[in-house]
Amino acid sequence: MNVGVAHSEVNPNTRVMNSRGMWLTYALGVGLLHIVLLSIPFFSVPVAWTLTNVIHNLGMYVFLHAVKGTPFETPDQGKARLLTHWEQLDYGVQFTSSRKFFTISPIILFIAASPGDETRDCVDDITSGATRSVSASCNNAATDFARKRTPLLATVIHEEGIIYRVSMLILNKAAGVFSKPSRREIYEFLRSFNFRPGKVFLHKLVLGIETSCDDTAAAVVDETGNVLGEAIHSQTEVHLKTGGIVPPVAQQLHRENIQRIVQEALSTSKVSPSELSAIATTVKPGLALSLGVGLSFSLQLVDQLKKPFIPIHHMEAHALTIRLLNKVEFPFLVLLISGGHCLLALVRGVSDFLLLGKSLDIAPGDMLDKVARRLSLIKHPECSTMSGGKAIEHLAKQGNKLHFDFKPPMQRAKNCDFSFTGLQHVIDKIITQKEKEEGIQKGQILSSAAHIAAAVQHTTACHIAKRTHRAILFCKQRDLLSQSNAVLVVSGGVASNLYIRKALEIVTNATQCTLLCPPPRLCTDNGIMIAWNGIERLRAGLGILHNTEGIRYEPKCPLGVDISKEVGEAAIKVPRLKLKI
Ligand code: KG4
Ligand code: ZN
Repeated sequence: MNVGVAHSEVNPNTRVMNSRGMWLTYALGVGLLHIVLLSIPFFSVPVAWTLTNVIHNLGMYVFLHAVKGTPFETPDQGKARLLTHWEQLDYGVQFTSSRKFFTISPIILFIAASPGDETRDCVDDITSGATRSVSASCNNAATDFARKRTPLLATVIHEEGIIYRVSMLILNKAAGVFSKPSRREIYEFLRSFNFRPGKVFLHKLVLGIETSCDDTAAAVVDETGNVLGEAIHSQTEVHLKTGGIVPPVAQQLHRENIQRIVQEALSTSKVSPSELSAIATTVKPGLALSLGVGLSFSLQLVDQLKKPFIPIHHMEAHALTIRLLNKVEFPFLVLLISGGHCLLALVRGVSDFLLLGKSLDIAPGDMLDKVARRLSLIKHPECSTMSGGKAIEHLAKQGNKLHFDFKPPMQRAKNCDFSFTGLQHVIDKIITQKEKEEGIQKGQILSSAAHIAAAVQHTTACHIAKRTHRAILFCKQRDLLSQSNAVLVVSGGVASNLYIRKALEIVTNATQCTLLCPPPRLCTDNGIMIAWNGIERLRAGLGILHNTEGIRYEPKCPLGVDISKEVGEAAIKVPRLKLKI
């Protein structure tokens, strides 16, 4: 401390305060810095504000240190001594309103810019070249926000968007260096820095191949869940004509398409095969003939490229897909409902599953397909191109679900298993009876088809909802799931049925759970889920094969550890829920 070292110099603080030119330069410098920070692609508006503020504070510190010494010591001037910077703040003498404004405004702006991504979205639009619609969408974001908060904050957000736009324009025009590249462009750029040929510099990249049923699909996905390329060939149209999947036909179609589909996924991803970290392929469960095509093609590719191979369990891939889109931590509950699958499982880790229940006969999608076929919905002008399940959902909107009273299956069994064959037979009988009553031939459309569709959809929804409700209660009772933050993931083709989703939403609301469904294209079979499962396994270091000798496909393969018996023994009574949909 320099206490007592009096001299005749005035307090440098005063001198600094009076040199306006210097302050103006400093303020402009900080403004420019803020604009530069805003234009950095990864920085959101709040981050840019925070950084500006922090750098400004550091600048102030260094500046005062340089002028006054550490920690801003002032030569003792007795009573003539002016207050130090910090004393000014402490005693408030010179803590003027303008100073208050400059101190508080970054904080307000940070809070104002934080609540939504509206501004950022506008900014993204701007930088991606959508110029005309941008100001409208920015205005909308600001207006929306204004309704929620105060008009002042909304204006601030809007202005920030404009600052961003102007700064991006200037910087783009001036240098072209700061143009906001897409995530994909950044990865492509980074990948061009391969240190060793054939080795990926930054990201793990997996090629996923799926042929377990009637879709030939492939995709390239990177470690961050970025889908770099995908391709799919669906056989639905062919199988609709034959009234179901004929395995040799499916096999032939997979053979005809696999090379093209994998090539397409790779070329759209702009990834050369040598850059792949691994190849992941569905090897279980599924149709033997279909699985065989995918596996032998993949093994050839693995051999040719000398890459690791990751065999994938089709259900595991369905269950983990949600993690590509949302930050879902383990453990979570998953319900898989499609044409080939029906199960409830607790996902505790990448390959750590507890099977709580499954269908004892057919899957719900299969049952809906059979009912749709029996009702000849393919001849219905509105449903001719739809899958059975989709046709039922569509027609159900025009029918009365209470017209027929189908009892939900397995009401007495207090477990989480499912059954749909009984329901299908009951509906078969009703249809035959109605055909007689209406005097029409098998193959013609009944006048009550919409009522039947509505009733079967409702009964299916009730059955699925009840079993899921019990699974949630069981997991909570055993502390397998969080009491207040549990997540239920629903996937598979049938998960795209909005009526069934609504029923599940009622269950999750009643049990304080969050319901998550991947978008329809990821609910149904696809290559992305297989590639993502490969990424998950690579990250966890699980099941990565460097030697593929002896690897076989398995048409039947349970998922995880089956504890469905234990679930049944717990015999949890599910409280009645009003499924008002
Ligand atoms: O997952 P997916 O594409 O294939 C597998 O079965 O693995 O699911 C297809 C199944 C079909 O049975 C189809 O009828 C059913 O999902 N589905 C639906 C709907 N869309 C497709 N079921 C009910 N409502 C829908 N909207
Ligand atoms: Zn599937």
